[in-house]
Amino acid sequence: MLFRQVYDHIMTRMERGEWNADDKLPSIRCLALELGVNRLTVFKAYQLLKQNGKAYVKEKSGYYVCPEGESQLGDRHDEQQMATSSAVQMNSKLSDIHQVTAAYRFSQAVIDPNLLPNLFLSEYVKKVFDIYPKLMGIYSTPQGDEELREVLSRYLMRHYRVHLHPSEVLITTGAQQAIDLLARIFIRPMDAILVERPTYSAALDIFRAQGARLIPVAFSPAGYDMDMVEMLMKQHRPRFFYMNPTFHNPTGYTLPTLQRKQLVELAERYRCVLIEDDAFHEMYFEERPPQPLFTYDTEGWAVYLRSFSKYVAPGLRICAVFGRQSVIGPLIAAKSLADNGNPLVTQKIFVHYFQSERMQQHLEKLRIALQIRRDIMEEELAAASIDWRWTTPKGGLNIWLRLPDTVSASELFDESIRQSISFVPGQICDPLHEMQSWIRLSYSLVNEEQLRVGVQRLADIAQRIQKR
Ligand SMILES: Cc1ncc(COP(=O)(O)O)c(C=O)c1O
Repeated sequence: MLFRQVYDHIMTRMERGEWNADDKLPSIRCLALELGVNRLTVFKAYQLLKQNGKAYVKEKSGYYVCPEGESQLGDRHDEQQMATSSAVQMNSKLSDIHQVTAAYRFSQAVIDPNLLPNLFLSEYVKKVFDIYPKLMGIYSTPQGDEELREVLSRYLMRHYRVHLHPSEVLITTGAQQAIDLLARIFIRPMDAILVERPTYSAALDIFRAQGARLIPVAFSPAGYDMDMVEMLMKQHRPRFFYMNPTFHNPTGYTLPTLQRKQLVELAERYRCVLIEDDAFHEMYFEERPPQPLFTYDTEGWAVYLRSFSKYVAPGLRICAVFGRQSVIGPLIAAKSLADNGNPLVTQKIFVHYFQSERMQQHLEKLRIALQIRRDIMEEELAAASIDWRWTTPKGGLNIWLRLPDTVSASELFDESIRQSISFVPGQICDPLHEMQSWIRLSYSLVNEEQLRVGVQRLADIAQRIQKR
């Protein structure tokens, strides 16, 4: 599938305006040389661009960029456009799906605001302004408030016995910004990186925008195939492996402890940075998840992203990046360029709330509420007379559902949107743009009553499609 990545790479450069309408694209030979790939790979990518109406051929001259509006869809009949509309929607990004207004929003992996400590937080807002009367008049440092970084490094010590100096912590605007900054410092066009298959789709969009060559690593309920990971590291020498090993988005799977330890060894051996995105660690149901793999790293190959946006306050957008100086140094520079640091006010509110007893009580209640919602979703899915399958998530916010072969995800998506139900099509979580038989359903945003009704309606739609 390398040609698919070359295709994405060319599309990204077109979107950036490097090649505009009617510009000549580089010759197959030149591009193959530039990207370090085989000529046949570039040829196949050009063929696909032509087929998709993105490029045209001038005889004996080469490939040229198609002007907008003259793509393949432009010269097809309406009827054909109707037929392709679902495919177009299925390719859209996560944020596009979130724009769709729906009564039953199973597409958003965010926690129902009614389950968050809004009232308590507003008390802390007042408290913080009493403690720091000049708070609104001061910038934070780009790296983040020192008090907060000290608290977080103590937190790491207390929970995992990992010693990290506050200078090895960076505060970012959510994990999303951390992923973006890491992509900026690590990726040059066509660099290989490993990503899970499936994975968090917004991360894929970020990596593609930097021109990365995405090498997929399948993630199953048993974890990764470690021999395969080693082979990929050996063969492609990836810059990093981006992973979300605990209550993974979208699948809910968790990587076993043994594989965590093995990965750290492989990272050292093949000099591959491990980016561990751990946004859901505290959202476990029966038992605590395994330790972050970052805690097994002694040589500095792992970077740990712990976002607190989801379960503390999405409004504060606080994420901590833990890593050694070799990574944190360049990251601080990138963060300075991006925004010169998170607002001080949100960091101070967070640090006071984070250390409070109420925070612990909130977490305990939240776990129970989320488990109840997961159970309801599972009950309703099981009650439907459809042969869909899933693995029970032991934490996190999502169920990764395999549809029966008789139900097409694109048809289900179109019909569900018409009936005000949204979900995430598996295809956008797949670095290879496949996985058409999978969908992600989030149980964390809609309330219990809506969950029952929404899943029943979704099942009715699926059943009708099945009968056609
Ligand atoms: C795996 C993963 N990483 C990062 C993010 C973004 O997190 P934040 O809201 O902290 O930017 C999400 C949000 O859904 C996620 O699921």
